[in-house]
Amino acid sequence: MLRTATLADVERLVTFTADVLRFQDSQEPAEIFGRWTQDLLGGRHHRVRAQDAVLVEDRASGALVASTILISQTWTYGGVLVSVGQPELVGTLAAYRGRGLVRAVFEAIHAEAAARGHQLLAIAGIPVFYRQFGYEPALARGGGPWVPLGDLELPAPGTGPFRIRPARADDAGFLAATHTASRARYLVTAPHDERVWRYDLGERSAGSAQSLAFCVIETPAARPVGMLVHLPVLWNTAVAVGELEVIDGVSWRAVWPDVLAYLRATGEAYAARHARPFGQAASFWFIAPGHPLERIYKAPGTPRPSWWYLRAPDVAALLTTVRPALERHLADSPLTGHSGELRLAWDRGGVQLVLEGGRMVKVAPWAPARDVLGQESGAPSKDPRRPSALFPGLSVLQLLFGFRSVEELEHAFPDCVVRDQEARALLNALFPRRPSDVWALV
Ligand SMILES: CC(C)(COP(=O)(O)OP(=O)(O)OC[C@H]1O[C@@H](n2cnc3c(N)ncnc32)[C@H](O)[C@@H]1OP(=O)(O)O)[C@@H](O)C(=O)NCCC(=O)NCCS
Repeated sequence: MLRTATLADVERLVTFTADVLRFQDSQEPAEIFGRWTQDLLGGRHHRVRAQDAVLVEDRASGALVASTILISQTWTYGGVLVSVGQPELVGTLAAYRGRGLVRAVFEAIHAEAAARGHQLLAIAGIPVFYRQFGYEPALARGGGPWVPLGDLELPAPGTGPFRIRPARADDAGFLAATHTASRARYLVTAPHDERVWRYDLGERSAGSAQSLAFCVIETPAARPVGMLVHLPVLWNTAVAVGELEVIDGVSWRAVWPDVLAYLRATGEAYAARHARPFGQAASFWFIAPGHPLERIYKAPGTPRPSWWYLRAPDVAALLTTVRPALERHLADSPLTGHSGELRLAWDRGGVQLVLEGGRMVKVAPWAPARDVLGQESGAPSKDPRRPSALFPGLSVLQLLFGFRSVEELEHAFPDCVVRDQEARALLNALFPRRPSDVWALV
């Protein structure tokens, strides 16, 4: 039986989630996911309620056998607000897997997301599985470097030109302003308002998977110049950084040695507190591509980011919402003020975009005509019933979200077709490759 959860289910859901979402091959339940579930459903979280979980029970035994929580939030695309639903803490008891339970749960979640007006669904999920429900990996998520600390010559903590100290409640304004200013470098972000900062700084349960340590970087005269956010425990054997930002006018490279010195001391302290080995390393995995860190520290090897799976139930409606951002992309490109048309088609969908003098005057669902003459070879054509570009699967989402350029998609998918130079120039202008960084409101 599939149904919406109530407060009476929370205790069972906490145990269930810790059990089912344990780390790969682990013998132990992951309590951090249980605590996070408790925060989300038990009334502590400022926007999520028990009723946001969908669960499945075995009618015979009454056992809880599958569940997922829908976390509603607002993200931005090029500064435009987009309503997003994040299915989280997805799981089915091992003995009940492969029977379509999560498929049924997702049908319910997608119906609820539509009722809430979400134009986008996003999951930081396990590989491949969610594709069958219409999701595509279309935003980078983390992938920053692993920085060895052992043999670095660093100032003793507190003796360099910058100090790192735990954030206090009255730092919320500075943290918010610093974080907000940094978002300008990204296409997609999740804005954190004052309520979110209050929750993050003081209201989460200790030991939740989402609980973080917030620090302020300051000068000896106590002038705040940056923020550092890290996990409050070792991550494997490293100290793990979630966010690092430095305000305008201050050199990141000057701050860097003191940050590393702080992280080394913190890693040693955590190792001693929890009797665990410290690998003398800081992980910046949570830092997404496009962050200034890339320009102050050369990591060995090529980083391979993880991903967000995205699902856009109505691409034309979504593009209509973000039209101001797309018009800005065009204005910032060599095609500023352009008039023209793009017809994009993919496996089961399509969209038409009409531009007049740099304004997007039409965004509408579109499909190639079935009665065009002859085989599609991707060659230039005057027939307006043919698409300007064809994308396999849902790979078009990778383009729309700045995750891959047209050329990268063509490289990855031999059957990605761009009909002519005009279409290519317009696609590049409207959908430039741009980094995104989503610190989801979970
Ligand atoms: C991944 C998981 C949630 C799937 O739950 P489930 O109830 O077995 O999923 P469903 O049966 O609804 O799956 C739908 C389809 O995908 C198939 N499938 C199941 N697990 C799969 C997997 N890991 N990868 C690919 N396909 C999978 C099913 O066989 C089914 O196929 P069908 O429609 O052809 O019959 C479950 O295996 C689980 O809880 N795993 C451990 C926790 C976890 O990884 N959660 C996800 C965190 S993001």
